[in-house]
Amino acid sequence: PSARMPLVVGNWKMNFDHLEATYFVQKLAWLLRDAHFDYNRCEVALMPSFTSIRNVQVLVEADRLKIGYGAQSVSVTNQGAFTGDVSADMLAQLKCKYVIVGHSERRKYHPEDDANIVDQVRAVLTAGMQPILCVGESMEERRQGIELDFAVGQVHDVTRDLSDEEASKLIIAYEPVWAIGTGLVATPESAQDAAKAIRTDLYETFGAKVADVSRILYGGSVTSKNAVELISQPDVDGFLIGGASLDPEELSNICRLT
Ligand code: G3P
Repeated sequence: PSARMPLVVGNWKMNFDHLEATYFVQKLAWLLRDAHFDYNRCEVALMPSFTSIRNVQVLVEADRLKIGYGAQSVSVTNQGAFTGDVSADMLAQLKCKYVIVGHSERRKYHPEDDANIVDQVRAVLTAGMQPILCVGESMEERRQGIELDFAVGQVHDVTRDLSDEEASKLIIAYEPVWAIGTGLVATPESAQDAAKAIRTDLYETFGAKVADVSRILYGGSVTSKNAVELISQPDVDGFLIGGASLDPEELSNICRLT
């Protein structure tokens, strides 16, 4: 296990309306309480759709839950004539702690290129939240044997513009694209190799004060069956979970195992 506080993040993607989201949070909190889950040992966060964030906030505040939450993407601009966009300030007003940036689904279905991703990271940091930057190779890069360089390159494209202080707030999620929603989980060794390569790059760019504290998550077909082996790797500091985060029992089990 790593020296850093583990973080389990449920990325709900485009699932759950605001009522389902409310029900889910209540159920998860109840399951964790029932299992005497220690929130001081592992942080838990949920990433609902924009339309559910306010409901999650109200519930978290009313019941004083120690569950964090955030958004799945953000606009790079702060206000104005940008129809359909949601700004980092709006998210910070809802007490969001995290924002996912550069998820492979956003890179694929939206014009989110490296420059846009850097701007999102900056917008999130400026608003006082923490970006969860997603990186990871497709099967093609893996076949070519360049997966580590590819993932590190994606991290580097963002970090080269950041100050030490900004970089220390960045959370990185290594999510190989071929493992997302496929049931093909990375082996613990390859998750560790990628996390280690990313940490080494942080070390070379910023030194130990950033590299030692930065949390690097693994994402891609994580379940309660594979979580223990993955989290026992020294550089894997938690998970970014899609499918398994839609079932409160499964998510609570992963939290307890992390
Ligand atoms: O962001 C989490 C994600 O893309 C992984 O999805 O369904 O493979 O856990 P899944």
